[in-house]
Amino acid sequence: MDSIEPILTSFKNIPTEAELSYFFFCSVFGLLTSLFIFWKFTRICITLIALFLFPRLFKPSGRMPWIDYTQESTDWDLLPAWLHNLQQRPMAFRWKLFHKYSTMKYVDVVESYLAASGETDILTLGAGSGSLYPYMLDLMKDHGWRNVTVMLSDIHPDPEAYAKISAQYEQITYEAKSVDAFKLESDKRLRMVSATFHHFPPKFASQLFQSAVEDEAPIFIMDGGSSRFFTVFLPMFHTFLYPASYLYWLGDPIRLITPPLAIPLHMYDGFGSGLRFYDCEDISNLLKGIPNVEKFQWYTFCGTLNTIVLGHPNHIPRLDLTHIGKPFINPLSSAQNANPGKQEL
Ligand SMILES: C[S@@+](CC[C@H](N)C(=O)[O-])C[C@H]1O[C@@H](n2cnc3c(N)ncnc32)[C@H](O)[C@@H]1O
Repeated sequence: MDSIEPILTSFKNIPTEAELSYFFFCSVFGLLTSLFIFWKFTRICITLIALFLFPRLFKPSGRMPWIDYTQESTDWDLLPAWLHNLQQRPMAFRWKLFHKYSTMKYVDVVESYLAASGETDILTLGAGSGSLYPYMLDLMKDHGWRNVTVMLSDIHPDPEAYAKISAQYEQITYEAKSVDAFKLESDKRLRMVSATFHHFPPKFASQLFQSAVEDEAPIFIMDGGSSRFFTVFLPMFHTFLYPASYLYWLGDPIRLITPPLAIPLHMYDGFGSGLRFYDCEDISNLLKGIPNVEKFQWYTFCGTLNTIVLGHPNHIPRLDLTHIGKPFINPLSSAQNANPGKQEL
């Protein structure tokens, strides 16, 4: 595996000038390469877009009912670990990009919960190759939070990447063995699920909430927004991620020879994700019927680009999230009004 060791990997979000310029250069390279791909394969791309957008014309937001007949490549148990990780590392790269150029308000929600509860430990589920967690901790540090700990885990873990992150962040530990989000043994840490919730079909998604309620464990979900715009944008973005990631991890021979396989997989996963994302009405429906669901306080925000859900036990008073500047609603009490954050896209 040493041969695919990235030469220029850096998970730190305190980059030098040179790293920042390189990082920016890689992103532009990725974008230009993707434009070239679209230009050369216009017909294939337009057909794919049309196929995946067609259902959205009839159901502009919310999860597509038939989407669970398909799976994203990262969910195929037969996908070799190296290919899984090859796809997951650009996802972490993506988060670096987003944390650099966007305000990432979700961090304020996590901080509000930690401040109210006095808790500091986060258990991540479906963390891929590290996801956004290093960058989240960097931002928290900027906000004065230094004592938060994060444990990385995934059903298909990437221990090599986790070890690297953990070596740079003493607050980050990891589980090298497979951790199934549905087989947790009454762990009471804040369960954080970033960019993974849409992988769980409704029955499982409900089950994830139910097990949080049963274990009295708070749960925080950050996922893509359920909107037409994002359904188109995400596959394009994923497509540009792969060439960008090659340049970023320059010298990785596997990454160099696999674009014909990896780019279509990225695109396919991007399209699948866009049709899987839950909106606020979906979240309300998922919570309905869960025994003792009212023993938790629930908050949802559903925008064009992201969906955020927080649930925590009632012994912590309901949080005031108005300072975050996003319209959070209570999904238990306002099912009819469930998408106030949605824009006309
Ligand atoms: C789209 S990836 C997101 C990775 C990461 N969260 C990120 O943002 O970069 C979804 C991840 O969910 C993981 N996953 C799928 N089902 C899971 C389960 N039942 N328990 C834990 N992880 C799961 C997959 O292995 C995959 O790594």
